[in-house]
Amino acid sequence: MDRIRLVGGNELRGEISISGAKNAALPLMIASLLTDEPLVLHNVPRLADVKQLERILENHGVDIAVHGRRRGEEEGVGQRMTFHAADIVDTTAPYDLVSKMRASFWVIGPLLARCHEARVSLPGGCAIGTRPVDLFLFGLKQLGAEIDIDEGYVVASAPKGGLVGATVSFPKVSVGATHTILMAAALARGTTIIENAAQEPEITNVAECLVAMGAKISGIGTRTLTVEGVEKLHGATVEVIPDRIETGTFAMAAAMTGGDVLLKGARPEHLQAALDILAQTGTELSSEASGIRVRRNGNGIQPVDVDTDPFPGFPTDLQAQFMALMTMSSGVSEIRETIFENRYMHVAELARFGADIAVNGQVATITGRPQLKGAQVMATDLRASVSLVIAGLAAKGETVVNRIYHLDRGFERLEDKLSRCGAKIERLAG
Ligand code: UD1
Repeated sequence: MDRIRLVGGNELRGEISISGAKNAALPLMIASLLTDEPLVLHNVPRLADVKQLERILENHGVDIAVHGRRRGEEEGVGQRMTFHAADIVDTTAPYDLVSKMRASFWVIGPLLARCHEARVSLPGGCAIGTRPVDLFLFGLKQLGAEIDIDEGYVVASAPKGGLVGATVSFPKVSVGATHTILMAAALARGTTIIENAAQEPEITNVAECLVAMGAKISGIGTRTLTVEGVEKLHGATVEVIPDRIETGTFAMAAAMTGGDVLLKGARPEHLQAALDILAQTGTELSSEASGIRVRRNGNGIQPVDVDTDPFPGFPTDLQAQFMALMTMSSGVSEIRETIFENRYMHVAELARFGADIAVNGQVATITGRPQLKGAQVMATDLRASVSLVIAGLAAKGETVVNRIYHLDRGFERLEDKLSRCGAKIERLAG
């Protein structure tokens, strides 16, 4: 199994191009199931999770093509891909495919809307809590679906004539359930109102894609989405937004090591809460025409308390990285994880660098240390893994991160991007 070896201590200086957002690319790919015409996506990141979803979509009968780089296009820009679901040949998403990635469960929305039936294995994915699917099932039932659980599968069928528009008022904000109901409602008969919808930029990217495909959606970017169902959707060409979690991760890495990094293509409005918090730590941030510049030159890291929250709050997907930063602050800080109940698995690994972190329920208390020491550590989930890389970049001496397949699920060319900015980082094969 591949490992990453780092020698900490170098400042990060240079430019990093931000890749397309994994969490937007995945639902956009799934949206291709809604039409028999091709959906063309630009800026798709090269990630293990994208590959895994390709396998799932191919199993349903989607033809997938990757196009070459266009003339003048920079090396490293995302892939241009076409997804063509001319015929859905299978409405079952089997366990061995779905169990590897939770987001693959979301195919249930478009399959049910277009084919009026779906049989989808209950999901797997990162072990960061129980992550149930009750909100998905609640929403689909509101649209008239009949649902059974049979041998680990959700078996869903639409009424004769298809799903029917309704008000879906979510008791809790869920990104995945919002994507799923939005896609299902696009082809339902009548009007659907989604209340307490997630407002993440990735939801907006998908909603705008659906509109480009002929869907009628209003309230995009707000808590309430109104969808007038249409009979058919058509093909479209859509660009995947830049990855705000990758942006925040590199911003925290630069804050931790010190230096000066331009995050090219990053959009500040997609992670304003995280940028505000970083500014409070003493990191200088500025918006430039080509992206966000992050600088910290010599001054210490101030401790700052953070609660994770749905967008526009501080993202749970940056919690582990921020914790790594706080391990070297000049005081005591508290992080409260409000989204997932078991998202502190990186704490034990950060402790191996000498970090001082105490967890009590949802709250982690971090007492900053002037210096971390390199260590052998183990990646546990996608975002936790990268917090170990950040800690290793600032720690004294050598760090080896084991089990890095989690990193490959969500970060494109991580070692390459960091080493171009002066980090001593390499991948050890096998
Ligand atoms: C998405 C993101 C993930 C991010 C998370 C929260 C993708 C591919 N993944 O995951 O990176 O960490 O949003 O921003 O976009 N819940 C229920 N019942 C449900 C569904 C969810 O109780 O039916 C709970 C979850 O357990 C969790 C909370 O709702 O506590 C939020 O989860 P949700 O927004 O659904 O996360 P995902 O869509 O899985």
